[in-house]
Amino acid sequence: MKKNLVVLSGAGISAESGVRTFRDSNGLWENHRVEDVASPEGFERNPQLVLDFYNERRRQLNAVQPNEAHRLLAELEQDFNVRIITQNVDDLHERAGSSNVLHLHGELKKVRSVLPGSEPMEWTADLNIGDTDSRGNQLRPHIVWFGEEVPEMAAAEKIVELADLFLLIGTSLQVYPAAGLLHYIPGDCELFVIDPHLTLNITNADNFYRTTATEGMRLLLPRLRKIRN
Ligand code: OAD
Repeated sequence: MKKNLVVLSGAGISAESGVRTFRDSNGLWENHRVEDVASPEGFERNPQLVLDFYNERRRQLNAVQPNEAHRLLAELEQDFNVRIITQNVDDLHERAGSSNVLHLHGELKKVRSVLPGSEPMEWTADLNIGDTDSRGNQLRPHIVWFGEEVPEMAAAEKIVELADLFLLIGTSLQVYPAAGLLHYIPGDCELFVIDPHLTLNITNADNFYRTTATEGMRLLLPRLRKIRN
């Protein structure tokens, strides 16, 4: 039986595709304060600004491609039962061929109505004020904003609890509850990390690749293949 390889990915894995990370630069996200564009209060204050911001991100996503790190992770499905938990709202894991991806913070290409608990639906175009569901409720991006619940957390915890191998790739671990998933890693699970700047103590220093996602995946892949059984 294949071993369970659980991956927690963040913005760093998409950096080499040309998608900006959140915390590497000046505290601004694509020139906006995070609380203006990624919070329910920001949406209440200026909904069109928020919709425009995500429209821009959605358009950018259509112009970028998965990189080698996404592709190598997809390839690992030949050897492992790979479960990807991503904090990213892009669809680059899926476009690279990964078949089991859980989006903790929502998806750029989905929207839902502003009513609590509404079902997400596919959306590839721009979203504007006046775009509504069939009952006339305004649509909003299907994104978990700061201060909102993370509905997929319980599912993610269950996945992590079953990990034989765990890979942390391209995340600063600054955002909770996502970062708390590390507490659910079983004691006998082997942990690997790929990140050029992250500070984290792990038992086996050889398992920490302080480099980019693509370079780290190139180095890690042959090692993982050796321990697949
Ligand atoms: P961050 O921007 O906080 O962290 C990006 C991480 O990627 C850092 O640890 C960098 O060192 C690393 N990195 C940079 N370039 C890299 C490369 N080429 N290869 C590999 N790693 C690289 O992004 P996240 O940890 O994903 O939430 O942020 C978590 C959440 O905060 C996001 O999901 C988003 C944000 O607010 C929402 O939008 C809800």
